Amino acid sequence: MASLRKSTESVLPTDHPMDGITIRPLDFRLALKTSDDCIWNRRRPECAVFLNALGVHVPHFERYLVFALRKARSSTQDARLRKNMGGIIGQEAHHAHNYTQFSAALFQRYAALSGVDERAMRYFERHAQCDSDRRLLGFTAGYETFTFLAGLLLLDEFEDWFGSADPEVAAFWIWHQVEEVEHGCVAFDTYKHFYGDNELYRKWMIVVAMFVLARETVVAYRVMMVAEGWCNRPWFAIARARFCVSMLLRFARNALPAFRRSYHPRNHPLVTSRQNPVQQGWRRFSASGGNVLSFDRDKINEVIGWARRRSSDAQ
Ligand SMILES: [Fe+2]
Ligand SMILES: [Fe+2]
Repeated sequence: MASLRKSTESVLPTDHPMDGITIRPLDFRLALKTSDDCIWNRRRPECAVFLNALGVHVPHFERYLVFALRKARSSTQDARLRKNMGGIIGQEAHHAHNYTQFSAALFQRYAALSGVDERAMRYFERHAQCDSDRRLLGFTAGYETFTFLAGLLLLDEFEDWFGSADPEVAAFWIWHQVEEVEHGCVAFDTYKHFYGDNELYRKWMIVVAMFVLARETVVAYRVMMVAEGWCNRPWFAIARARFCVSMLLRFARNALPAFRRSYHPRNHPLVTSRQNPVQQGWRRFSASGGNVLSFDRDKINEVIGWARRRSSDAQ
């Protein structure tokens, strides 16, 4: 059984999820997962495989982000920005740690995947060393557009993705998405702080980041499709491939508001008037000492209840 977390949070979160970034050093014990656990959603295996495929390169990007923001942090005296940069660096380092643990189970199930992972690792390491400061921050801000806006799709449709999923894997993804919302404006603010006038480059980097995210996901998804035997029946293979492509297109569509000149993550309806009740309730539940290391459907409903209770208290 997973142990209770140690958390640095001591107060209830404020109403805007981007007010105050909490570093939660959680460990979901994903190293204990086996090859069989990789299909963690038996009712919707394509959902499990899609997120598994997406997740292969993510820890390598997260380390790239940590490198980029650490470097930028040493070049500014802006106290608020430095504090927020410290927050995102801490959160992403813990995400990468947990992702890497789950990757070990994926490599057991998919022998060809370690090559994909290796290539992604080299890609991000090479770019961390070679990219200009502007590119480091531009790409980081571009990629973070997707982890903030697109990732909320998962919580909006939590029944499909996590309703009958492995409780620890579900808990890991919910935690990750909640924190991506909390630090969703930091990379954007950092880019604007250093290169505010260069909007065209910021937008171009969203396109580049989407391309990299899609490429890495498709390559890993293809390896998994073959290994799962999905390619043995052509129509079935087409249906499963379509699912992957349609999800990536939905990710791209959700990121469209970021192309507006007036865009700022803090003002997006998803963190103001249209907040997702799972992320709202999770933060309150977590801040009150609830165990967030395991989530089944009943517990997700309990967490949504925390969001509703707090909303009705406020009225
Ligand atoms: Fe992350
Ligand atoms: Fe992030």
